Amino acid sequence: MKKILFVTSEAHPLIKTGGLADVAGSLPKALSDLGEDVRIIMPNYQAIKMTDEVRYLSTVHVNNYAVNILETRLPEANVIVWLVDCPEFFDFPGNPYVDEQGELWENSAERFALFCRVTVEVAMNRSWLDWKPDIVHCNDWQSGLVPALLSLEHNRPATVFTIHNMAYQGIFPSATYLSLNLPGQLWNMNGIEFHNRLSFLKGGLVYSDRITTVSPTYAQEIQTADFGYGLEGLLSYRKDFLSGIINGIDTNHWNPETDANIKKTFNHLTLNNKLVNKEELQQRLSLPIDKNIPIFGLISRLVEQKGIDLVMDCLPEMLTHPLQFVLLGSGNKEFEQRLQEFAESHPDKISITIGYDETLAHLIEAGVDIFLMPSRFEPCGLNQIYSLRYGTVPVVRKTGGLADTVIDTLPETLNDNTATGFVFDEASPGALMEAIKRALILYSLPETWKQLQINGMQKDYSWTKSAQQYVALYNQL
Ligand code: ADP
Ligand code: GLC
Repeated sequence: MKKILFVTSEAHPLIKTGGLADVAGSLPKALSDLGEDVRIIMPNYQAIKMTDEVRYLSTVHVNNYAVNILETRLPEANVIVWLVDCPEFFDFPGNPYVDEQGELWENSAERFALFCRVTVEVAMNRSWLDWKPDIVHCNDWQSGLVPALLSLEHNRPATVFTIHNMAYQGIFPSATYLSLNLPGQLWNMNGIEFHNRLSFLKGGLVYSDRITTVSPTYAQEIQTADFGYGLEGLLSYRKDFLSGIINGIDTNHWNPETDANIKKTFNHLTLNNKLVNKEELQQRLSLPIDKNIPIFGLISRLVEQKGIDLVMDCLPEMLTHPLQFVLLGSGNKEFEQRLQEFAESHPDKISITIGYDETLAHLIEAGVDIFLMPSRFEPCGLNQIYSLRYGTVPVVRKTGGLADTVIDTLPETLNDNTATGFVFDEASPGALMEAIKRALILYSLPETWKQLQINGMQKDYSWTKSAQQYVALYNQL
């Protein structure tokens, strides 16, 4: 058994903005099921939804702040969560990255630098918790200073850094580096300096003992200029220490057989019940009720990464077919506005919900027929996996984790029952439309369609296999 400190800026259901929270809320559980002693450490934001009891553990002093360490548990799991409680930084409304107006926190660097410093104190067992981890497992740029600072310590735990998204790097002016009072040894081009600026992400990539990312394909892609954002050289230099481990999902939370957020539960033998959810969704979103019309769904942060522009370019042609389109998301204001205009001019075919709504997300997965995920890049992607589990056939671009989790429908994959969705290559509206048309053709063949759904629903998406790969990695260290 190893002691693992899992460092994250979000964890479902305490606080979530995207897939990192899903992973941080489920991988530690899977690791502890495999016998590891895991503790999560994260900031104590005002917006955290606490359900379990919280107790005070200790106070540590870093950079003139007295920071409390509080303890709670992941709801419905026996995983300990340590909350870094520093009201000066975290006791504000908003989410981990933006304020209530949706503007990036002006003091992001200070917030996460403090979080990293406190994590280092905990990792070095200097915070009166009487627990020293063997492994500190960091996630994304918000925790990037942890491996960097730990590299300066004697007798330090081993470090693993997982990249969930290279698009977010935590880059700040060099003046911020000075104001954060970080050790001078780290400031060089082989350290956390990136073109004369401070890069939190580089702290993780340079100084951690192992780097992982959330799919094998993305692990390859980030070693190229198209996906590496200037860090491809560093990543290929460290390729012997870099691997891709595909994300699992929380199979209890995303389970069509037990999901309390949907109208009627179902499994691969009771697919007819899925139609009850389709009807419920149409009713809730004021779309014409019709169980035969194909519904396309999309749930996403509305950002460039997700290929939302490709979908909007396809919508005029999609509207020439009998179909409905349902979208739930928020993000880029221009995307939001254009999407809403589509819905206003075609209320009988298009429903756009701007916002964040977990319950609706589950009903969409259960109620739609086809899920669109034409991402320009996708480190892993979770919604395509939720879709597969809910008998909703995904249309995805061949990139990152999408390429690793969806098997294209071809004569041979249909024959051997391995096909699970529709995969296209080029990031263009034409290529996406081609895949959408292929999906529509197959949808018109009920028996074949049902087989496609069943193929996807019967696969194992649990964490077990991937958690074992993390354990194997920890054991190398
Ligand atoms: P990313 O982490 O890049 O946003 P993922 O597919 O890994 O992409 O994970 C996204 C997660 O966030 C999924 O659990 C998805 O259901 C959820 N999500 C995204 N947008 C919304 C929204 N508007 N309402 C509810 N859930 C959302
Ligand atoms: C990131 C990625 C997404 C991945 C998630 C969890 O947000 O964009 O592809 O599934 O992290 O690893």
